[in-house]
Amino acid sequence: MKLANEHLFVTGGATGIGAAIVHDALEQGAKVSFCDTNIEAGMAYQSELISSGAPAFFHQGDVSQFESLEKSFNASVAHFGNVTKLVNNAGVNANYDAVTMTDQQWNDFFNVDLKSVWHTAKCALPAMRAAKNGAIVNISSLHASMTIPGYFPYAAAKAGVIGLTKNLALDEGKNGIRVNAISPGYILTPLLRSWFDTAPHLEQAALDVQPLGRMAQPSEVAKVVSFLLSNEASFINGAEIMVDGGLHTRFAS
Ligand SMILES: NC(=O)c1ccc[n+]([C@@H]2O[C@H](COP(=O)([O-])OP(=O)(O)OC[C@H]3O[C@@H](n4cnc5c(N)ncnc54)[C@H](O)[C@@H]3O)[C@@H](O)[C@H]2O)c1
Repeated sequence: MKLANEHLFVTGGATGIGAAIVHDALEQGAKVSFCDTNIEAGMAYQSELISSGAPAFFHQGDVSQFESLEKSFNASVAHFGNVTKLVNNAGVNANYDAVTMTDQQWNDFFNVDLKSVWHTAKCALPAMRAAKNGAIVNISSLHASMTIPGYFPYAAAKAGVIGLTKNLALDEGKNGIRVNAISPGYILTPLLRSWFDTAPHLEQAALDVQPLGRMAQPSEVAKVVSFLLSNEASFINGAEIMVDGGLHTRFAS
């Protein structure tokens, strides 16, 4: 029970990697609250968890709107007490052309994939600082360091998440708060499926480059998240952990 007596807040916890993070943290003894824009999936997941006796709490919240995020965060604190662990997981893909992408599209996307990481930390840090204890994990991507054509905003936002993580690790270390990032490779979630569905060759091409010959299940990311949040990772701070089956080592063919 790595996370006994902890209260974890997860953004985008209704499906995919976020849902697996919620599940694993509950198995590790945490009380877990999560927000998501997908109210149907969030409510269904909350019911499933509560019916099995798990201390889970869902609140609809859009991380790209500070007021909405803050409302979800405060409702979670009212339900389970101060948040002691935070995972910034909510994210969307961004496939654009550098000439035709509009400022509005850029801002809408960056509000989800980068600004929200700061905003959620802004909500969580005061209580963590007061307790002189806390841990944050930010979900970045392999795209922060190596990417594919057409994903320049996604690559930029995810690289921004790594920079933000390293700087917060420096700033908050003295407050007893560790801040780390995970960069997943190909994880089988609805987000990845929506990308594979854009062209018939993509799934096989992605499979062909995997050093382990397969893509990952969301639970394989979630277990690393629970470890980084726990005291077992007590001296890991400012790290970017690749959970990509070794894909980042590939140079060509
Ligand atoms: N799946 C992969 O292969 C992969 C690889 C690298 C990084 N990631 C990152 O992992 C994270 C989770 O991705 P996933 O694959 O599980 O995606 P997903 O689409 O399956 O799940 C993301 C969840 O976030 C929610 N969400 C989206 N926008 C939101 C918002 N504004 N406010 C609140 N919730 C919001 C969605 O409703 C969804 O439930 C993302 O940050 C993504 O960029 C995923």
